[in-house]
This record gives sequence, C-alpha cells and structure tokens, in this order.
Amino acid sequence: MRHPSDPVPVRSDQRRWAAPTGCALTVCRGCCCGSTRKHPDVDHAGQVDQLRALVGTDHRVRITDDCLDACERSNVVVVHPSGAGRAAGARPVWFGFVLDDSAVDDIAAWVRAGGPGVAPLPDVLDLYVMPAPGPTARR
Ligand code: FES
Repeated sequence: MRHPSDPVPVRSDQRRWAAPTGCALTVCRGCCCGSTRKHPDVDHAGQVDQLRALVGTDHRVRITDDCLDACERSNVVVVHPSGAGRAAGARPVWFGFVLDDSAVDDIAAWVRAGGPGVAPLPDVLDLYVMPAPGPTARR
C-alpha cells in the first residue's frame, strides 16, 4: 500500500503533483471516504472545493483514489508538513471523521497557520487526529 507521503498518481483532471513549499493535504476518496452510500449527508465534492478554497495557493490539496486503510474513520485527510515543518521534524498528521464543514474549516485554518511543525495543533482538532494506520505508524 502506498503511504500518503509517497507521490500519488493524479487523475487526469487534476494538476500534476509538484513539491509544495507549503503543506500538502491528501484527501482520501477511496472505497469509503467520499462515499455517498456510507455518508449520504456529506457533500464530498464540496468538501474538497471548500478545502482548496480555504488553504489557497500556498498549499496543495490532492485526492487519492487509493484507500488509506482507515475506512472505519472515513473521511480521512492527511496533512503533510511544509518544508519548514519537515525541517522542524514534523510528520504527517492524520485526521479521521472529517465529515462536516467545521472540521474542514479548522484543518484549513491550521494549515494556513503553518501546519505540522510550525503551528500548534488547535485543541478542537484533537477530536479528529488519528494514528497513521498499519506499518506507517512506525515510520
Ligand atoms: S477509503 Fe479512505 S481510508 Fe479507506
């Protein structure tokens, strides 16, 4: 299974992935995340649009069709640190149950503030933080 830190193939309708100077966000849209069958009350496409609009052009939002192996916590979003965050030793931060606009707003605000390794994680996001699944938790 591909780790979200690895380059992700992009769908033809997306911009090619380029190393961002800001944070990179991986939005899972595998079998459960983004599923209207599993989460019929969520505007999944709107959630991605909201996230992209809120983080602006300093950060990248990419979608993966590959399940990130955490379906029990769908929808999953992974925030990868910026260059400054990586230099500070930060690792990607995983969020689960990202199903409402306020969660998207809070994640985007934290990313705009600098994200992992740069800005402290707001208490409100503690509700959504999850361990990276499987062997990636040991990386
Ligand atoms: S579809 Fe997102 S974790 Fe499985």
